[in-house]
Amino acid sequence: MNDEDRVAPSDNVDIYIEIRSDRADVNHIVCSKVCQLLADSVELIEQIQAFRFLDGRDLTGFVDGTENPQGMHRREVALVHASDDAIFFAGGSYLHTQRYRHNLTLWRSLKEQEQEDVFGRTKIDNIEYDDEQKPLSAHTKRTNLKDGNGKSIEILRQSMPYGDMKQQGLFFISYCQSPVPFELMLKSMIHGDGHGNVDSLLKYTQAETGSAFFAPSLTFLTELLEDES
Ligand code: HEM
Repeated sequence: MNDEDRVAPSDNVDIYIEIRSDRADVNHIVCSKVCQLLADSVELIEQIQAFRFLDGRDLTGFVDGTENPQGMHRREVALVHASDDAIFFAGGSYLHTQRYRHNLTLWRSLKEQEQEDVFGRTKIDNIEYDDEQKPLSAHTKRTNLKDGNGKSIEILRQSMPYGDMKQQGLFFISYCQSPVPFELMLKSMIHGDGHGNVDSLLKYTQAETGSAFFAPSLTFLTELLEDES
C-alpha cells in the first residue's frame, strides 16, 4: 500500500519465528537451535532483536498496547473461531509484521503537546483524549474502527521496540482471527478517511518491511506430525 510518502511494503517471506522472553541469553540459545534445525532448508532474511522499553513504551515515549483486548477476549480477537467454515484452521491466527524505522530527531523536535496530538493520548500518564479533543489525523483515531453494526474492529498487537545508536524503531506485530482488520487499519492510516485525514504518526516513522503469515494452532501442527509418522 502507498500514498504520497506513506508506504507499507510487502515482502516475500516464508517463515516467521518469534522467540520471546526477558532473558537475552536464553533467546540467543533458542535462536541458535532453531537456526541449526533449519540451516539446510532456509535462508535467514532478517533477525530483529527487540526489547521491552520502560513500562511497555514505544521509543517515541508513549505506552503501546493499552487498548489491546484483555483477558479471554484476546482469544476471540486473535484466534480463528472453531465455528468458522475453515474448521481445519481453528485456533490459528493471521499474523502481520512490519519493521518501522523512526525518525527520532524529527520526533524530538515536537513539543510534548504536539506529540500527544499525534497519538491522541497524553504521554506520561497515558490518558486517552476526549473524542472532541482528538485530531482526525491522530493515530488512535485512524486505527479505532467500527464495522457497519457499530462493533469495534480489533486486532491483538504485540509490537516491540528495537534498535541501536544508529537506527531505532518499532517491530509491529499483530495477530487476528481474520486478515481483514489489519488491512482496514493500515488503509485508514495510509489513505486516510477520504477527507485528507491521514495518520500523522507516519510523518515520524516509516515501514521498511512488511509480511503476512498464518500461524497454525498447536493441534494443527501435531496432526501434521502424526500424519507424517
Ligand atoms: C511505528 C508504528 C506504530 C506505533 C509507534 C504505534 C503506537 C501506538 C500507540 C502508542 C498507541 C496508543 C496506546 C494503545 O492503545 O496501544 C497505539 C494504538 C493503536 N494502534 Fe498503533 N502504532 C503503530 C502502528 C500501528 C499499525 C500499523 C496498526 C494497525 C494496522 C496499529 C493499530 C493500533 C490500534 C488498533 C490501536 C488502538 C486504537 C484505539 O482503540 O485507541 N498501530 N499505537
